[in-house]
Amino acid sequence: MIVLENVGKTFKDDDQGTVEAVRDVNLKIGKGEVYGIIGFSGAGKSTLVRCINLLERPTTGKVFVNGLELTALSEPELRKARKKIGMIFQQFNLFASRTVAQNVAYPLKYSGMTKAGIAARVKALLGLVGLEDKESAYPSQLSGGQKQRVAIARALANDPGILLCDEATSALDPQTTLSILKLLKELNSKLGITIVVITHEMHVVKEICARVAIMENGVVVEEGDVFSVFANPKQKITRDFIDTTSNLSKIHALIEEDSPIVRLKPGECIVKLKYLEKDVSEALVSTISRRFNIDANIIFGDIEFLGGAPVGGLILIVNGARSDIDDAIAFLRNKNVGVEVILDAR
Ligand SMILES: Nc1ncnc2c1ncn2[C@@H]1O[C@H](COP(=O)(O)OP(=O)(O)O)[C@@H](O)[C@H]1O
Ligand SMILES: [Mg+2]
Repeated sequence: MIVLENVGKTFKDDDQGTVEAVRDVNLKIGKGEVYGIIGFSGAGKSTLVRCINLLERPTTGKVFVNGLELTALSEPELRKARKKIGMIFQQFNLFASRTVAQNVAYPLKYSGMTKAGIAARVKALLGLVGLEDKESAYPSQLSGGQKQRVAIARALANDPGILLCDEATSALDPQTTLSILKLLKELNSKLGITIVVITHEMHVVKEICARVAIMENGVVVEEGDVFSVFANPKQKITRDFIDTTSNLSKIHALIEEDSPIVRLKPGECIVKLKYLEKDVSEALVSTISRRFNIDANIIFGDIEFLGGAPVGGLILIVNGARSDIDDAIAFLRNKNVGVEVILDAR
């Protein structure tokens, strides 16, 4: 549905220096996918997503949407192609002086549809986003979540095949964020629309994306299905994003504080287990205690669902004969569980 080939975008700044906002990005996004692009502020995400509909013309490279090379189209052709790419933003960008219905109807203005046709379409769109009773309200009378629903309805007016979402939930509270993400997921499965989600928040990716690209300094540094990327991160920045949601690293603070929870008796050690595989169905903790005759107490754990599979880990205090513990660790590693001995009093 979307193919980016060696896409780059360089801006001239005020002092005639240059900023390479996007560098040599190659991405393929399939029809009907929910695809995430995550990065910290300034990474180049907004520029990249604006290159998909050519709101920003790439300095280098080619952009294909649904088989059409957008970078080769004339302005009128491009305007037509753009109608099939909806976009929503962090700040909603609604017309304050127009009602909800007028906002949603706006993109249909020159569509050749009759007044009655437009009214029916607006009604259907408002039904789709759960705002059928708000058609006469003005944006100032709506909550943030409702405003974003209006923006979504407006973005869908021309029945686009793609919806680009640039930090669409970043101005919303956590509860409202979840309801908007749920709506996007519903639209994706109901309409088969391809959704590209730009965000700096891990939980957004976790909630709705099947595949993800991680951006840093204008470059896509890692890409793939969400589970593989976050279960087995290759780049430091990817681990940084995981750390924004995982509490496993709290173990180091507990040790530093000399918390009673982590004080060890002789013969004990603290280990961190990390699940890297989709099929961690075995009861690993009970298996190692039985097989290797050791005690394994879970201090805490953090297991999340990413791409429909559990990812995460456990912090354990293990007690037993030294060789038995070593054997248990080797056994776990052999099962593709990441094992790190964090503190050793053996
Ligand atoms: N129109 C512009 N003119 C000059 N520099 C820009 C422009 N738009 C973005 N940039 C620069 O490009 C880089 C990437 O910005 P942006 O794409 O907005 O990142 P993100 O959305 O990930 O926060 C930043 O250094 C930003 O200052
Ligand atoms: Mg941005």
